[in-house]
Amino acid sequence: MKLKWGIIGCGGIADRRTLPGMMLSETSECYAVMDANPAAAEACKEKYGAKVATTDYNEILALPEVDAVYIASPVFCHKEQAFAAAKAGKHILLEKPLGLTTEDSLEIIEECEKCGVKLGVGFMMRFHAYHQAIKEVIAKGTIGDIVSMRAQFTCWYPDIEGAWRQVKKLGGGGAFVDLGVHCIDLLQYLSGLEAVEVTGFSGTQTFNYEVDDSTAMVMKMNNGALGLVDVNFNIPDSAANNPLEFYGTKGSIIAVGTLGQVEGGTVKVLACPEVGGYDAQQSRSTVEPVELKVDFGNMYTKEIDAFANAIINNTEPPVNGRNTLSVQKIIDAIYNNGGGKI
Ligand SMILES: NC(=O)c1ccc[n+]([C@@H]2O[C@H](COP(=O)([O-])OP(=O)(O)OC[C@H]3O[C@@H](n4cnc5c(N)ncnc54)[C@H](O)[C@@H]3O)[C@@H](O)[C@H]2O)c1
Repeated sequence: MKLKWGIIGCGGIADRRTLPGMMLSETSECYAVMDANPAAAEACKEKYGAKVATTDYNEILALPEVDAVYIASPVFCHKEQAFAAAKAGKHILLEKPLGLTTEDSLEIIEECEKCGVKLGVGFMMRFHAYHQAIKEVIAKGTIGDIVSMRAQFTCWYPDIEGAWRQVKKLGGGGAFVDLGVHCIDLLQYLSGLEAVEVTGFSGTQTFNYEVDDSTAMVMKMNNGALGLVDVNFNIPDSAANNPLEFYGTKGSIIAVGTLGQVEGGTVKVLACPEVGGYDAQQSRSTVEPVELKVDFGNMYTKEIDAFANAIINNTEPPVNGRNTLSVQKIIDAIYNNGGGKI
């Protein structure tokens, strides 16, 4: 028997990625869909074989058949809809970011705990086959102690009339909250390190909207390593490189093109057999990197299955509110004060 899902907000990422991913899942099925736009709800009902389409999320929450909801509405709707779902006893997979602020996010977490429902967060990039492989390489100590890391994620996002992402009170911010959350989460999750302090610059240089189109931030990690996150809404997609890099005392991991919505890219691991003493020549050509090989899958299917299995086995969802709250704290620290202790 499959877990039955209600979808709240089914017009954007839900239709583009998560619902196609759910169709490949052996644990889950799409039972009901809701969107503020009736045409989007009807289209998804047809496309994904749902039984119910509605423009009222309360209708979804009132369905006894629905075990869990996936909330993929604009960020300003997250808190109200998550609270209603928790009170209705539905488990919640909530798209990133959890809420508009740390305060909102914490309230969502606490409400879910109070109501006894599970809360998952949409950091699906953790499930990318390459990211899982990178985590293993780091945990094995192949590149030694991590001293430096970087994640750069960009897209081209010009002024668009009526776009909620371009209004601070609707999206919570711009490039940093939209793209940066994945980078912050991945650097912490893959390295196993935690940010203790951050500093950075955020601004709007190319477009006319009020939110940031460019942000760069450095995290000081709990082992002293530095982690750079830089995100832009003003680099053309065809010029994007999206590097994800880890440097340690014994080597490096260089991933290119793994950040995104489809599994792909390349990852090269360079492990130095013996570092030795100081080399005044600083010669670099002695060790060849090894390209990692993995079997690609669908990150969204894996995300849905991981959450569904937590419900089925009554365990904590692997990507949950508590273990991603620091991401929201970092976002707020940079936006509100240009940095600070986390
Ligand atoms: N994890 C990822 O890969 C990923 C990618 C993109 C977006 N997101 C997140 O998903 C969420 C939605 O982003 P998007 O890009 O799909 O946005 P979008 O604007 O493309 O789509 C949002 C949908 O929600 C509907 N909507 C508007 N108000 C609503 C309401 N009050 N209740 C229900 N539905 C409503 C809209 O009609 C639209 O169909 C955001 O939290 C965003 O950060 C995640």
